[in-house]
Amino acid sequence: MKVIRSVSELRQYSIEQQSNGRVVGFVPTMGYLHEGHTSLITRASVECDVVITSLFVNPTQFAPHEDFDSYPRDFEHDYNLAKKADCDVLFVPSREEMYPYGESTSLSVGDLAYKIEGKFRPHFFDGVATVVAKLFNAALPNKAFFGQKDYQQSLVVKSLSRDMLMGVEIVVCPIVRETNGLAMSSRNKYLTDEQKDNAKILFKSLVATKEYIESGIRNRKKINAYLHDMLRRLDGLKIDYAIAADSNNLDEPNDFEEGSQVVLLIGAVLGKTRLIDNLLVKVPIEKFNEDDRFEEGL
Ligand code: PAF
Repeated sequence: MKVIRSVSELRQYSIEQQSNGRVVGFVPTMGYLHEGHTSLITRASVECDVVITSLFVNPTQFAPHEDFDSYPRDFEHDYNLAKKADCDVLFVPSREEMYPYGESTSLSVGDLAYKIEGKFRPHFFDGVATVVAKLFNAALPNKAFFGQKDYQQSLVVKSLSRDMLMGVEIVVCPIVRETNGLAMSSRNKYLTDEQKDNAKILFKSLVATKEYIESGIRNRKKINAYLHDMLRRLDGLKIDYAIAADSNNLDEPNDFEEGSQVVLLIGAVLGKTRLIDNLLVKVPIEKFNEDDRFEEGL
């Protein structure tokens, strides 16, 4: 596995690969890799001829009070995991390489960036869109792989590629979980063992709420209340949001349509650690009741 630190070298590598007819896959990360990331690299290596993974803790997606300085970094750990997962190139740019002229030009992704997670982190999605655009311009990928764990981010990146005519195919891959259901995240490192155990409430609540919807409940307020009630069982969990939304655009209708797909989204703080998680649910189509048909004389 090659390590590249400069944008021009990476671009040249990618152009060479594509001129030889190879499909270039790209996995952008902020490092401190775990099985969630390696599952993206493995998927990329199955679908593409070469895989580039980036390690860059992007300053523009952190607010001043957030954990940019303390965000975990471990190059050797990341190098070994990426290599094992079949990565061809590790792109490790410095801040100067990614932002050589400071941060004067940035991208704004509109409404999608300021709802739900964006209400709590208003700077976040514009920072993500800006750095993902820069990374795409450096890696020139055919396909890019993102985890479903950052659900709203995956929608933002899809709009970015579509609206900016980037032509990069965005592949969203399933969440990888610990055995107790906790979604893998680099920030889980901040949790104590007890908190890690308690944090399983997020996935349990999502699964219970999925079953609630599957039992025929389509009213959004009822669904949200059910999800909140489940989460409130854990004392000390600060719920930023726990909501159901349309999985395509994060709209929040009064009632979800039969056959539509809902995403249940949670953002919550446990101790000092902010956790996010989500689950997709198909709203059932109510079966036509033959007796009703008879009674109504149809
Ligand atoms: O999901 C992440 O790790 C980051 O938001 C990303 C996409 C690498 C941009 O910095």
